[in-house]
Amino acid sequence: MSKLRVQSFAISIDGYGAGANQDLQNPLGLRGPELMEWFFATRLWRRTHGHQDGETGIDNGIAEQGFAGIGAWILGRNMFGPVRGPWPDESWKGWWGEEPPYHVPVFVLTHHARAPLEMAGGTEFRFVTEGIHAALEQARTAAGGRDVRLGGGVATIRQYLRAGLVDELHLAMRPVLLGSGEHLLKGIDLRALGYECWKHVGGERASHVFLRKRG
Ligand SMILES: NC(=O)c1ccc[n+]([C@@H]2O[C@H](COP(=O)([O-])OP(=O)(O)OC[C@H]3O[C@@H](n4cnc5c(N)ncnc54)[C@H](OP(=O)(O)O)[C@@H]3O)[C@@H](O)[C@H]2O)c1
Repeated sequence: MSKLRVQSFAISIDGYGAGANQDLQNPLGLRGPELMEWFFATRLWRRTHGHQDGETGIDNGIAEQGFAGIGAWILGRNMFGPVRGPWPDESWKGWWGEEPPYHVPVFVLTHHARAPLEMAGGTEFRFVTEGIHAALEQARTAAGGRDVRLGGGVATIRQYLRAGLVDELHLAMRPVLLGSGEHLLKGIDLRALGYECWKHVGGERASHVFLRKRG
């Protein structure tokens, strides 16, 4: 059975998955990049940005596992970009340039309809206005038996958690305090929803915790 997986989702000690005031200059919000410093050092991230170096330790291995067996992604519209409200035109094509690192269909949840966007390297952004269940159904179909990765951001993951639809949740906990921003778990009782932590691993720049639904 195809799983819905959250992988490599970084949070601060105080539980934020993005900083406040996201905009074009601050895609992750204020101080948000501090969440991703574990990822920026990895060979995986360096290679996707055209560099041949990068660390190959625990953090890198876990980041690589996050891409294994994935046949489609689901993102929220804020993770896709800084445009809010109706799309003024078709010019925004995501943060990732002409060849995004997904290489499979990516379903973007939004209230504002938009035509699909085909990018180089196999990524196609498809905009879904019918809600989380429709996006998951479409992603599962596109994934053809492989897993669906729920990329974020925070509001999107919270909806899928509350609906009990996330099978696996890997959080990369960073030793930083953000103080404000988008809080991942506030008001969500993961225990009552049936989740348990089954593994934790200390990486070079993050502590990795792995949660899953109890069988
Ligand atoms: N910590 C990490 O590892 C990590 C990973 C990924 C992203 N991020 C960060 O997370 C931040 C984005 O998170 P976020 O919580 O602000 O937003 P988000 O989850 O990316 O997107 C929320 C938006 O998506 C649309 N949407 C969500 N659910 C919908 C539904 N059921 N039906 C229709 N539209 C729906 C709505 O946009 P509209 O109403 O405007 O259409 C909503 O405002 C960014 O800063 C990003 O960089 C962090």
